[in-house]
Amino acid sequence: MEGVIDAHTRDLLTRQPGFDWTVTEFVRVVDTRLPPRVFLKHCPELASAPQRLCTPSGVPVTLQLLGSHPAALAANARQALALGATSLDLNFGCPAKLVNRHDGGASLLRDPRRVRAAVAAVHDAVGDAIPVTAKIRLGFADRRLALACAMAAEQGGAQQLVVHGRTRNEGYRPPAHWEWIGRIRQRLSIPVVANGDIWTLEDYWKARTLSGCRDVMLGRGALADPWLAPRIRHWQLSGERLPDTTWESRATTLVDFAALQRSTLPAKVVTSLLKQWLNHMRARDPEAARRFESLKRITQLDELLDGLMAEQPAMPRAARLPA
Ligand SMILES: Cc1cc2nc3c(=O)[nH]c(=O)nc-3n(C[C@H](O)[C@H](O)[C@H](O)COP(=O)(O)O)c2cc1C
Repeated sequence: MEGVIDAHTRDLLTRQPGFDWTVTEFVRVVDTRLPPRVFLKHCPELASAPQRLCTPSGVPVTLQLLGSHPAALAANARQALALGATSLDLNFGCPAKLVNRHDGGASLLRDPRRVRAAVAAVHDAVGDAIPVTAKIRLGFADRRLALACAMAAEQGGAQQLVVHGRTRNEGYRPPAHWEWIGRIRQRLSIPVVANGDIWTLEDYWKARTLSGCRDVMLGRGALADPWLAPRIRHWQLSGERLPDTTWESRATTLVDFAALQRSTLPAKVVTSLLKQWLNHMRARDPEAARRFESLKRITQLDELLDGLMAEQPAMPRAARLPA
């Protein structure tokens, strides 16, 4: 997830069993072949790639490209392959206005022929060397072309399709239409993965039931609850439910995250990233919400870390009694 899930986050989230694979933030392709440093920035795992690109815990990492120009996508796919990518994903889901205005992400869903051309260009560029997959939404403004776009991705050579169950215009507003993902799954012969609004184990069950998909992709849910993927995996293996995630384990994840980020970034940036993750947690956890309220104006990393680990959060400044 762009600006949110980087290599350090992938590392942390895959330390417990749960994820089968992960995807990088998208590499934006315009009209030229990008230099290696751009790929390494989005996917530092390339620098230590063994046989298969993966997180330190061994969970495969797929490199994602976002673009619309088939020749440029092909050139960058070859570049990625040369640098050690072991699978490539194409993003047709990004709803950002800037990206769509420049003819990228979900804007291609207005014309399935363009989806097919983009996937085919990348597929032809890498041949059978590595798999190519794609990610779509249900459409741009409406769902009329949902199936046509999914089939176009398959015809272009995608070996798997993730479907985010909303149109571009629906943004991230609930609900995700899992039953629509099921309609697509029934018509495709490649594996279809359901994505959107999976925040809990119950959502996972419902998404699987309504879509009929064997696999799901977690987005914001994995940030809101870093134990969601392990909880799903535990249930798959044992039929039992792990206890709810405590604030202490969320705080530990955040502190570990800060330590990893601090190895490459200045304290000020790490402070912002920590607040960003806490913000993702707060919608799903009352204690995270309380901590966010009391800590959101802190600018010093050490003070923020103390506030996360404190037994009781400090009161927000506005709520403090006058001396
Ligand atoms: C801040 C943000 C950045 C994202 N960046 C990417 C990205 O780089 N590539 C991608 O395929 N999806 C990206 N997504 C979309 C998510 O992967 C996912 O498809 C979407 O959030 C729906 O799933 P969710 O409801 O579980 O979050 C992003 C979403 C958000 C909120």
